[in-house]
Amino acid sequence: MTRLRPVTGPDDPAILEAAAILALGGLVAFPTETVYGLGADGLNPEAVARIYAAKGRPATNPVILHVADAAAARELVSHWSAEATALAARFWPGPLTLVLPASAAVPSIVRAGGPSVALRCPAHPVALALIRAAGRPLAAPSANRSQHLSPTLAQHVASSLGEAVDLILDGGPTEAGLESTILDLTGERPRILRPGPVGPAELAALVGPVDRWEGAVRAGAVQAAPGMGERHYAPRARLDLVAPGTGLREASGAVAYVGLGTLPELPGGVRGILLPLDADAVGTRLFALLHELDDAGFDRIIMELPPEDDAWLAVRDRLRRASAKEMP
Ligand code: TXA
Ligand code: MG
Repeated sequence: MTRLRPVTGPDDPAILEAAAILALGGLVAFPTETVYGLGADGLNPEAVARIYAAKGRPATNPVILHVADAAAARELVSHWSAEATALAARFWPGPLTLVLPASAAVPSIVRAGGPSVALRCPAHPVALALIRAAGRPLAAPSANRSQHLSPTLAQHVASSLGEAVDLILDGGPTEAGLESTILDLTGERPRILRPGPVGPAELAALVGPVDRWEGAVRAGAVQAAPGMGERHYAPRARLDLVAPGTGLREASGAVAYVGLGTLPELPGGVRGILLPLDADAVGTRLFALLHELDDAGFDRIIMELPPEDDAWLAVRDRLRRASAKEMP
């Protein structure tokens, strides 16, 4: 049985127990401000290999190293740019991951054999206390089976990964609900590899124009952004996206319809769910809602598409991936 331990704050004794597990090469799931992470000692290749095994994650998909501050990040890169200094000063601790050229200190398995490393300083007191107690960078992807929904509750971790985790620190629901923004600083211009809570305008205000990674990379092709296969963050139920106000004439099976801002009239038997027309609120709620509908046995989820503006970029990205029909 996986142990699920409530953790009240950075001084909770469970954090020292978790650090001891990490020191022995074990796996600890912990809350961050985005989603729960599946952590291991990021400088221990055998421990990181356990993350890949537990998630069923392809060896080609690198993991993020979580650090307590920018000084710790600098030790893991071969070149720390002025842009990195500015971004870390403004957004760390917080939901921004920076991709930089890796130093020799970073094990190959963390980088999936590539030349760069992804670094993030999470803004959650429990995550920061755990990194400090471990005294090492923590490798931590989202704590879910590969290609499934990211966990925003400790219970999601337990049901997705179960026995494979040595300890789950339960810090309650995560705040942002969507994974961090990933910004690649290894090219000529900064490039967003994954939209997230930190938006393109906020980044551009600090570092000038940023490129965006457009669309998904096909199965088998060399991935421009590792792990950016099309179907990702997927619920078990079939998810279809429709224009706002489309509604539904008839339905068979267990169907849920998710409206944004307003809910059209729906046929009897269809479960209507109203979400506010507020990107942050929907981001916080989205994965938990999809988990709930899966657990409740819905076969089909129909959800209205959010507006096209940048505030909704991360939500639209996750919905597009969750509704993609092809596995990469
Ligand atoms: O909010 C988050 O970022 C969460 C929490 C736990 O910190 N973590 C997370 O990790 O979402 P994961 O592994 O589920 O997603 C990280 C993404 C993957 O798509 C991976 O391919 C990409 O980051 N990534 C990791 N290292 C990279 C690198 N060196 N270059 C490009 N992309 C990288
Ligand atoms: Mg993930």
